[in-house]
Amino acid sequence: MDPKLFPKDFLWGASTASHQVEGGTVNQWSEWELAHATELARTAAKRLSWLPNWRHVRTAAQEPENYVSGKAVDHYHRYEEDFDLLKDLHMNSFRFSIEWSRIQPKEGAWNAEAIRHYHRYIQALKKRHIEPILTIWHWTMPTWFAEKGGFEKTANLADFDCFVKKVAEEYGDDVRYVITLNEPNVYASFSYLTGEWPPQIKKPLTFFHVYHNLAKAHRRAYAILKQAHPRLQIGVAMNMANSQPKTTRNPFSVLFAYGSSYFWNRWFLNRIRKQQDFIGVNYYQTNYYHGFATRNPTTPVNDLGWYMEPEGILSVLTQIQAHYKKPVIITENGLADSKDRYRRWWLEQTLIAIQKAITQGVDVKGYLHWSLLDNFEWSYGWWPKFGLIAVDRDNGMKREMRPSTRWFGSFLGKLQTIQKRSE
Ligand code: BGC
Repeated sequence: MDPKLFPKDFLWGASTASHQVEGGTVNQWSEWELAHATELARTAAKRLSWLPNWRHVRTAAQEPENYVSGKAVDHYHRYEEDFDLLKDLHMNSFRFSIEWSRIQPKEGAWNAEAIRHYHRYIQALKKRHIEPILTIWHWTMPTWFAEKGGFEKTANLADFDCFVKKVAEEYGDDVRYVITLNEPNVYASFSYLTGEWPPQIKKPLTFFHVYHNLAKAHRRAYAILKQAHPRLQIGVAMNMANSQPKTTRNPFSVLFAYGSSYFWNRWFLNRIRKQQDFIGVNYYQTNYYHGFATRNPTTPVNDLGWYMEPEGILSVLTQIQAHYKKPVIITENGLADSKDRYRRWWLEQTLIAIQKAITQGVDVKGYLHWSLLDNFEWSYGWWPKFGLIAVDRDNGMKREMRPSTRWFGSFLGKLQTIQKRSE
């Protein structure tokens, strides 16, 4: 790797989302967890015993409390300590989300203390010279909004507009980068197509409607934010997969790989072409298509059984360049790896791939690893460990850097020294 290939102002950092780390959130997800924890624990073996590491995770996966976010990792109160860790890692940026249900717990009612909290939070980052990258919506919503039908009803978009206005008014002067929505494709699919996530609806038509509404919500949010603060850099964080045919000899494999790239990666981005200053990429997966089915190699896989091909990010980045020619921030990238066997390898391969993308002309502005901390992994609960920092929830929420993280931190430190020397 040639350190000089990374621009000096490259954003190096990590990402989180409010519900997954803060603790004490009350929203449509926390309600769903309490209603479904027992059932999720009871059905864990049926859903997950195919995992290669099932015997290591079975005890945790069969406990109902695994499925409750509860105090999470208490980031709401420990954020200063967590930001110091970012500094120790020589990071200069951090992505987080604002919890809508805290800011607007009741329809029409704003919570002044929660608003002040995020002011203090952003200032704590800036004091440390860490660029705040603010996500407005990372899947959780106040219960009153969910009860009205959430993004299923176009009329409800007015409520989201109000929240966006509030965010613009309160924090617009303090940040430069705003991500309106996190992975609308994943949210719409899991909540309205496969029905695994709240509100557990399995209706293709509703899925399309929600997906369209999210595109509308983004376009409206973009207009609101730009009007209030023209200098803001605004985008979405899109889950993008590297879809490839297993063999180009099978025309169906080629067709499905192409179709999947189109619908999964680009359909939404095509609808917001004129309303994005950068593209946020969340990359986790490469899928090989054999006909319409995916046939991935069986190794290496992470703790969730996801096939790992870190260098696949190169193809996603060049695809963005070919279709959109916009700056890119890698807003999420990482792996569930409780034993930290693969993280360093994943990081190294990813950074090499990013360098290749840069030399091929992709304007990559930053890399934010998912995640800074071990966190609540939605319907899987607590057992998957994505954190650069391990958190011992049974032992005073103690934070500990994983070995691969120490490596990453020292890599970033060396990079900084080399870049300063060449100034
Ligand atoms: C989401 C995160 C999640 C991560 C790992 C992304 O799809 O944005 O919230 O924790 O993947 O599954």
